[in-house]
Amino acid sequence: MSAGPDSTDRNEAADAPPGGPIPNPLEIDVLTLFPAMLSGPLAESIPGRVQSRGLATIRVHDLREWGLGRHKTVDDYTYGGGAGMVLRPEPVAAALAILRRPDSTVILPDPGGEVFRQPRAHDLALRRHLIILCPRYEGVDERIRSMIDLELSIGDYVLSGGEIPALVFIDTILRLLPGAIDAESTAEESFIAGLLEYPQYTRPPEFNGLGVPAVLTSGHHEAVRKWRLRESLRRTLGRRPELLVGRAFTKEEGKLMAELRVEARAEPVGGESQAD
Ligand code: ADE
Repeated sequence: MSAGPDSTDRNEAADAPPGGPIPNPLEIDVLTLFPAMLSGPLAESIPGRVQSRGLATIRVHDLREWGLGRHKTVDDYTYGGGAGMVLRPEPVAAALAILRRPDSTVILPDPGGEVFRQPRAHDLALRRHLIILCPRYEGVDERIRSMIDLELSIGDYVLSGGEIPALVFIDTILRLLPGAIDAESTAEESFIAGLLEYPQYTRPPEFNGLGVPAVLTSGHHEAVRKWRLRESLRRTLGRRPELLVGRAFTKEEGKLMAELRVEARAEPVGGESQAD
């Protein structure tokens, strides 16, 4: 089954890429016992548009197609005893025997895997073919790991299956494909790469007694750029200082950081509030 814009009534012609067909679109195969958990979200918004533009092809497969026997069994009790069922290796091996190619990267969402971060998303966006195996039940038979290229975690908490992590990976990767989002947003992201987003405002100019920083309505583009960089640095320093460790600061960033540190120290109580 294919999760994509086929299931929507979007206007494909309007979404067609201006330069004709994309030479090497990213292909993603997802193996799951709950295909409906993926097909809806993948048909919407940026993932849906990316697919109708031909930048990526996503196929969602029901792992039970490769299940064993008349009941299409995919799981079994755990050796040694204990609660819960474990995914058997044979259905996974059979699915991969069909889907895997020399250029495939097979990914297992797993809370014990590498934490999924933006640099890994950039890396995966450059690959040709991803296969994401979504486990359910209490886990996977350990021998399945030998068929996997990359185990990825989305954070230190335990979900009931791999479908939501798979959506997280796919959404993050698709928006990085050239042409997925407008060039201005991409440039904006690389401007503050590795930092938290600066504060944004829209109308009204005053809400519940809260205004908008004057620089943003000044029409002074360079002042706005500098303010945004400074606020991104300030927010990162205050909320996620570990993101700044080892950062190769530009000269401008280094100067702003020095100012921010002075400013934080000048705070009468703590300094945390000023640092956001
Ligand atoms: N499966 C269950 N919890 C998970 C997590 N935090 N990340 C990736 N896969 C998971």
